[in-house]
Amino acid sequence: MAEDAILGYLATHEEISDSGIFASQHGLQHNDVVNVIKSLHGFRYIDAEDIKKESWVLTDEGKKYAAEGSPEVQLFLAVPPEGSISKDELQKKLDPSVFKIGCSQAGKNKWVDMGKQVSRKVQHVEDKVKDLLIRIQDGQELSKEDNTSLKARKLIVAQTWKGYSVRKGPNYAPNRKKVATDLTRENLQKGDWKDLEFKEYNFNAKGPPPEAGHVHPLLKARIEPFVKQQFRNIFLQMGILVLKFDDVFSFGADCSFEEMPTNNYVESSFWNFDALFQPQQHPARDSHDTFFLEAPSTTKQLPEDYVELVKNVHKDGGYGSRGYNYDWKREEADKNLLRTHTTAVSTRMLYALAKQPFAPKRYFSIDRVFRNESVDRTHLAEFHQIEGLVCDRGLTLGDLIGVLNDFFSRLGMSKLKFKPAYNPYTEPSMEIFSYHEGLGKWVEIGNSGMFRPEMLRPMGFPEDVSVIAWGLSLERPTMILNGIDNIRDLFGHKVDLSLIKRNPICRIGL
Ligand code: PHE
Repeated sequence: MAEDAILGYLATHEEISDSGIFASQHGLQHNDVVNVIKSLHGFRYIDAEDIKKESWVLTDEGKKYAAEGSPEVQLFLAVPPEGSISKDELQKKLDPSVFKIGCSQAGKNKWVDMGKQVSRKVQHVEDKVKDLLIRIQDGQELSKEDNTSLKARKLIVAQTWKGYSVRKGPNYAPNRKKVATDLTRENLQKGDWKDLEFKEYNFNAKGPPPEAGHVHPLLKARIEPFVKQQFRNIFLQMGILVLKFDDVFSFGADCSFEEMPTNNYVESSFWNFDALFQPQQHPARDSHDTFFLEAPSTTKQLPEDYVELVKNVHKDGGYGSRGYNYDWKREEADKNLLRTHTTAVSTRMLYALAKQPFAPKRYFSIDRVFRNESVDRTHLAEFHQIEGLVCDRGLTLGDLIGVLNDFFSRLGMSKLKFKPAYNPYTEPSMEIFSYHEGLGKWVEIGNSGMFRPEMLRPMGFPEDVSVIAWGLSLERPTMILNGIDNIRDLFGHKVDLSLIKRNPICRIGL
């Protein structure tokens, strides 16, 4: 429409001097006219020159008075024609801002007597301000003085209006030629390609975004070689560090961290709890906290000699311990469950290690665990744990603190605090807190401790061998790194799919 109007007009006229006037004369939107001008100009059908004009538009306050009348007139009308009204009464009848402005303007205009009692000084007033505002709304021009006074009252603001003046261009034609975008088989067969005008290639145009699969941030953190490799690297580099700072860590230099095989979600209660000196009445072993399997409900293979030793340490103690003194039941130990921590894997590994001639070892794992918990913004029934342990002669709590500082500073968390805690299988035990700069507070990031002799000695470890160990959830750092504060935004049916598409690969640490 606008295009035909412009090209048609120029066929018989020298120029369109003002696109704004042209638009209103032809009943067109100025915006549409401008867009067509830009496009025709691009193909040189027309030449266009910018024109700029200062115009005035109403502010929100100006619009209000144009509709409801100026405050001074509203105030005047609220004063009775005869007699007077108290100032308080008058105030109650009007908007606070209308009252305030109205008082000062009506006073200035000498329309009313302002005192404790307010009365009219004149009988009729005209709302000049409202009239002026309406004229501006209609696009009319006002005198300089009127503009200045309305502007001073912040009822109007200046706005730059942009338009064009237009003349024929070198490629002018009364109708735009349709340009071809593709050379077709028909064009070649008919031979009309000779007369066709082709659209130029736009090498700057963006292509449509490719449709592709996207890896979930959590999966990225767990399985993506890039991220998992970073956790691995942390463990591997820690092995190397020992060589350099022998005084920090007392354990042997000749071993690095090895990844434990974590490919069994189903575990027996024995390896998940009993072997860790976790008593059978412990609340964690309740079905409210643990998912037990219905089929197969029990394990068939346990190392009988070792089971006997574990049973004895629970019942009667030993190795300097008094034990728990309760009736240990094999049926409890046989129950299958979904492992509640990867410490079950560490336990199996330590048991196997103790069978060999002693050599220091360091292990780590990153895999899934399950807890029968109610889901909230920081808890899910399935999550992942990162776990590390060091087994050597003569390790101390100082070694554990040193290792934890080293490990977490590689994750970018160098301010740590430790709080005494309780785990059935570690003594001493420490919860690990890190200062979160973003949240401005200390957040719990992991748990740690030294495995108890009641756990290690039945496996067959010599008395002077200790194991320091720590565990943390993979989700915590992933949430922090992705700026997610609700775990359900990361995992489950409430996940926003566009988050997964936009989510960049996150680097851990510095
Ligand atoms: N297993 C503990 C947990 O699930 C973590 C831990 C690992 C604690 C090793 C101490 C030693 O929270």
